[in-house]
Amino acid sequence: MCGIAGYIGKKDAKNFLLNALKKLEYRGYDSAGIVILSEKKDLNCAKSVGKIKDLEKKISKIDLSGKSGIAHTRWATHGSPTEINAHPHHDCQKEIFVAHNGIIENYKSLRADLEKLGHKFISETDTEVISHLVESNFKGNIEEAVLNSLKQMKGAYAIAVISKHDPDKIVVAKKSSPLVIGVGVGENFIASDASAIIGYTDKIIYLDDDELGIITSNNYKIISTISENNIEKKQCKLELEEYEIQKGGHKYFLFKEIFEGPEVVKNSVRGRIVSEAGLVKLGGLEVLDQQRLRKINRIIIIACGTANYAGKVGEYMIEEYAGIPVEVEIASEFRYRKPIIDSQTAVIAISQSGETADTLASIQEAKRKGALVLGIVNTVGSTIARETDAGIYNHAGSEISVASTKAFISQIIVLALLTVYLGRTREMSLVTGKRLTDEIKKLPKLMKKILNSCSEIEKLAKKYSAYRNFFFLGRKYNYPIACEGALKLKEIANTIHAEGYAGGEMKHGPIAMIDENFPCFFIAPRDSVYEKMWSNMEEVKARGGQIIAITTEGNKEIENLADDVIYIPKTLEMLTPILTAVPLHLFAAYMGIELGLDIDQPRNLAKSVTVE
Ligand code: AGP
Repeated sequence: MCGIAGYIGKKDAKNFLLNALKKLEYRGYDSAGIVILSEKKDLNCAKSVGKIKDLEKKISKIDLSGKSGIAHTRWATHGSPTEINAHPHHDCQKEIFVAHNGIIENYKSLRADLEKLGHKFISETDTEVISHLVESNFKGNIEEAVLNSLKQMKGAYAIAVISKHDPDKIVVAKKSSPLVIGVGVGENFIASDASAIIGYTDKIIYLDDDELGIITSNNYKIISTISENNIEKKQCKLELEEYEIQKGGHKYFLFKEIFEGPEVVKNSVRGRIVSEAGLVKLGGLEVLDQQRLRKINRIIIIACGTANYAGKVGEYMIEEYAGIPVEVEIASEFRYRKPIIDSQTAVIAISQSGETADTLASIQEAKRKGALVLGIVNTVGSTIARETDAGIYNHAGSEISVASTKAFISQIIVLALLTVYLGRTREMSLVTGKRLTDEIKKLPKLMKKILNSCSEIEKLAKKYSAYRNFFFLGRKYNYPIACEGALKLKEIANTIHAEGYAGGEMKHGPIAMIDENFPCFFIAPRDSVYEKMWSNMEEVKARGGQIIAITTEGNKEIENLADDVIYIPKTLEMLTPILTAVPLHLFAAYMGIELGLDIDQPRNLAKSVTVE
């Protein structure tokens, strides 16, 4: 959602802060700001609308030297993306500065009370309330002022506070939004996620909810914001490597991550298949009571956006091959429903970032109702990963591009592995388990074949770049892929509108839109519903619609119906989504390039939506 960074130590704070913001920019990038405490204990601040490079240009002209500071890159929630609304925000005297990620739900009443006390506000943000609240609570000790302020605030936050009154420390606090501390030698680092600290230290402390940290250059202290008692926190070893967050020779992270797909499948599978027994091993689930797992008679998959579509593929897989009823819920809906859950229900949260607020709130609700809560998460040590009873890490590597591609592929692979894992404790035979796992292992080679013909997809993007509306249609395992293909096109080539539909739904209304200006993607591999998709294509053709078909190699007949055909190698029906997703991700990426858009950081988006 937003990126927070902080530094206190022996070096110039500006260098780390700017580098950190660049690594956090994918979390939100409509404006940015930095404040540094000078040797003379003045707080010097600079902000800019736009990207970090705009802020860098601005501060190159001013003196921002000093050994402690905080910085922020924003994804606007309250107040438009302007310089005034950019963080860090300050109090009346510009002596206390705050950077914040989250939403203060009662900011309006707090602001009214503070204005009655004479505080003057200059921005439209909820965050500015925190700086004035801390000012009103300040009685000489900044952490006490922050602690008392947190007691008055409702909502989600990760905050970093710096003050000229109590200059040799930075105070941080967390509730729902992520925050980590990097422990250095003679210096300490603060960031919204560990990727910003790579290369500076590998000792990381993950703050948990209702914790406050007092960070100095040589030490840190963590206390509970509820009991105010000291908390001993474990230092974790940072696993990420610098190369993971570089572009690997690609011009864009998005292409790097799409082309990493085959490797991601290998990493997601590594050490988890026992071929000769047709079994899957999932170390993260071994902590569970296996009897309880065997008694699970219902699964609810909870996720948002692209992760939700991965979950829908998993629904078909688990029902068909493990024989367990599955429903997939949009997390932002689930959290406000009255779900019927008991101890034989397993709730599975799928989340790349592991910080999505709606998904996190949903699993907390599910835990309260006694469900077994599992996670399929990519970001190690993330909040969702720590909240679940057990889980499976994707091992897809750091995903920087805001539009999720390789994590989506990995989510489907992990769901396929989970299907075998669950199925083999139920009705699935060794033969079936072995067939599925053998086919999963072939996927990287099949994906590479599609990626090698990426220039064909680039030509398609050029051919259709003038169109502004697309339908994506699929059935069964590829219905979720139709939804994902439409979402990717909307996210990346965001002057185009696209909708994903179940193929059979076309005739119940959407077909009214079809004419020569409304191209349709048909995801129609030779599978159990191919003939049904053929009929849908004929319905569209009869109305002058253009058809781009994705089908299995060798299926030449489709060329009589489709205007353009993308071929994918043959695989099991249940695994076709891994192959059909690749050309759709490439199409969206090339279309974004064709339209001259920022394909790594599309407008209005954020990589991790840590607010409601
Ligand atoms: C993916 O392309 C989107 N940016 C978005 O839909 C994302 O999948 C969704 O916000 C869920 O994020 P998560 O996987 O980190 O929970």
